Amino acid sequence: MLKGRHLIDPMDLTVEELESVFKLADEIIENPAEYADVCKGKLLSTCFYEPSTRTRLSFEAAMLRLGGQVLGFSSAESSSAAKGESVRDTMMTIASYADICAMRHPKEGAPKVAALNSPIPVINGGDGGHQHPTQTLTDLLTIRALRGKLTDFTIGICGDLKFGRTVHSLIKALSRYDNIKFILISPEELKIPDYIREEILMKNGLEFQEIERLEDVMNELDILYMTRVQKERFFNEADYVRLKDSYILDKDKMSMAKQDMAVLHPLPRVNEISVEIDNDPRAAYFKQAKYGMYVRMALIMKLLGVEKC
Ligand code: CP
Repeated sequence: MLKGRHLIDPMDLTVEELESVFKLADEIIENPAEYADVCKGKLLSTCFYEPSTRTRLSFEAAMLRLGGQVLGFSSAESSSAAKGESVRDTMMTIASYADICAMRHPKEGAPKVAALNSPIPVINGGDGGHQHPTQTLTDLLTIRALRGKLTDFTIGICGDLKFGRTVHSLIKALSRYDNIKFILISPEELKIPDYIREEILMKNGLEFQEIERLEDVMNELDILYMTRVQKERFFNEADYVRLKDSYILDKDKMSMAKQDMAVLHPLPRVNEISVEIDNDPRAAYFKQAKYGMYVRMALIMKLLGVEKC
């Protein structure tokens, strides 16, 4: 039963609960008209203290497509955070206006603070370099749709594994599925945080390797999950400039990959996937962004406890 719950970390949902969200997303994709009014009279608040295109707009599209309505803010500057209001006070106010809230914040743990002070469900739309659980729902629904299951594959995760919150959430979530091999491809400075390596990968006895060269493993991968170097998390511009083009997926590299490998990316993309790849049938990242809206429709329904009439 997901009604009334918060989603702050991907592990907040069991594998069975995730599957129930994915099954509902499947049904919505199949028969969207049947869900067009299920959230009539409900309000979603999007409280975004950091920039976003996909997460905020897919949440808003999701609620509107379910027949509900949306309100919110898209930057800290346009909210009373600019006057010094705390996340706690903002959340206690929003809870009087809306039925459910999606929040993005640059500070790790801010959506959790909101959830602890909220009588309405709070969904973490990304907190600093920490977690991004609804991107993970998007990623899992995409993998499940492309491969038919969430087990038995080798995934290469490439780019900024240190600051990339989508990477942290994805590894956590995938750690509960069988027979997945992780190949983690990054510069030395952008390797996964110790807590992901030690508490998730090693503690669960998962198969993984950490390497620097994408070319060395292209032919092994069933899924390549590319990520952008997270400019906004760097303390030093010179380090960002030095590392930003560490990986560029182009036709030459794709020629080394399996014919059925899928390329995923949470987006936004900067330089790490050449636009010449967009027409390759293995490029799944824009399809992935669309799945993000459907899975958020399913999640909103589950957390509000609404059902198709
Ligand atoms: N994937 C993702 O979180 O994109 P936005 O930053 O555009 O929301």
